Amino acid sequence: MNSPAGNIMVTGGAGFIGSHVVRLFVNKYPQYRIVNFDKLTYAGNLTNLSDIEKKQNYVFVKGDITDKNQIHEVFQNYNIDAVIHLAAESHVDRSISSPMDFVMTNIVGTVHLLNAARTFWATPEKREGMRHLFYQISTDEVYGSLGENGLFSEESPYDPHSPYSASKASADHLVRAYHDTYGLPIVISNCSNNYGPFHFPEKLIPLAIMNIRDNKPVPVYGKGENIRDWLFVKDHTKAIDLIFHNALPGKTYNIGGNNEWKNIDLIHLLCKIMDRKLNRTDGTSARLISFVKDRPGHDKRYAIDSSLLQKDLGWEPEVKMEDGLEQTVDWYLSNPEWIQTVTSGSYKTYYEQQYLHR
Ligand code: NAD
Ligand code: TYD
Repeated sequence: MNSPAGNIMVTGGAGFIGSHVVRLFVNKYPQYRIVNFDKLTYAGNLTNLSDIEKKQNYVFVKGDITDKNQIHEVFQNYNIDAVIHLAAESHVDRSISSPMDFVMTNIVGTVHLLNAARTFWATPEKREGMRHLFYQISTDEVYGSLGENGLFSEESPYDPHSPYSASKASADHLVRAYHDTYGLPIVISNCSNNYGPFHFPEKLIPLAIMNIRDNKPVPVYGKGENIRDWLFVKDHTKAIDLIFHNALPGKTYNIGGNNEWKNIDLIHLLCKIMDRKLNRTDGTSARLISFVKDRPGHDKRYAIDSSLLQKDLGWEPEVKMEDGLEQTVDWYLSNPEWIQTVTSGSYKTYYEQQYLHR
């Protein structure tokens, strides 16, 4: 069970961002063994990784981070050196209807992982060139909501509003507490909204692409005036790679696209791209926009200052929104079977559950 230069446990590797992280690490670092530990909830799909599943340095273990025995088994069996922790319940709307799932996975699950890391890394044995590291992948939503101006920096106080962001904030605090109290080597990054291939179609961008394709209403919450700072997922995974390999223990980095869009403007841009791709007359897709009841406690604006990451590690977002959206739309339109697979069964979007099928 030994590998020459390190065994990295990636939790949530079958999800949206996790699958991009696993693919990048498996292809770029043949000297690492990547152990993808994932429960395969509705949001996790092994088809996301079909291109790398047969690689020698990749292992999948189906498991739940709320089960401490399963985590200990993985640490023991694979001699885990480092953890990149992405497993989470990740959809704000679901956190409003089922907060306890978020408490269990995002908080309790994180503590089980921290305890395992603390126990197994208490002995100083390390593989050459490898350091122990617990890398917590977090979100800008822990900082709450901005007004018209300003950006979230690493110094911004935590002020979460949704059960999702409160659960991620709690987990971040616990990760820092394990560093300060037990000396566990940790890093945390807080990223803005990602988009790109393999994004589960309950989130705004893939949901809109799917509904426009199918001529269904595109639900826009409230007046569509909320603002998000969008980042192409591969720019995020590049930052994760840099931080994993170079950040000093205890550090926090914010990651963002410097790319703020009002939801309604973003949807109009997407409608234009979709009209062109589907050979529809200009304006056809925009007629599907449907303003619906707002999300309770809906954060007004997120925007990230990522200058520390740029200065310390030389990271910069590379993909422009127009190009990233174009690539994303192309991917969804050429992978209808993926959409079919991940949305089959009794799956319904939050909006459909709440408002259309009572
Ligand atoms: P996702 O919902 O697409 O994937 C989550 C993955 O975690 C799935 O594969 C799921 O099966 C797995 N999982 C859920 N509960 C589990 C459990 N109890 N045990 C083991 N595995 C479990 O999420 P995502 O959008 O890829 O987000 C990944 C991480 O990045 C999350 O921690 C999220 O908070 C963070 N993040 C996401 C964004 C974004 O825009 N999507 C932005 C910043 C940070
Ligand atoms: P989402 O993709 O759920 O990400 P988050 O809530 O984590 O930022 O939503 C992005 C924005 O789009 C957010 O302001 C809520 C809004 N939204 C809609 O207007 N309609 C929808 O159907 C969804 C899912 C989100």
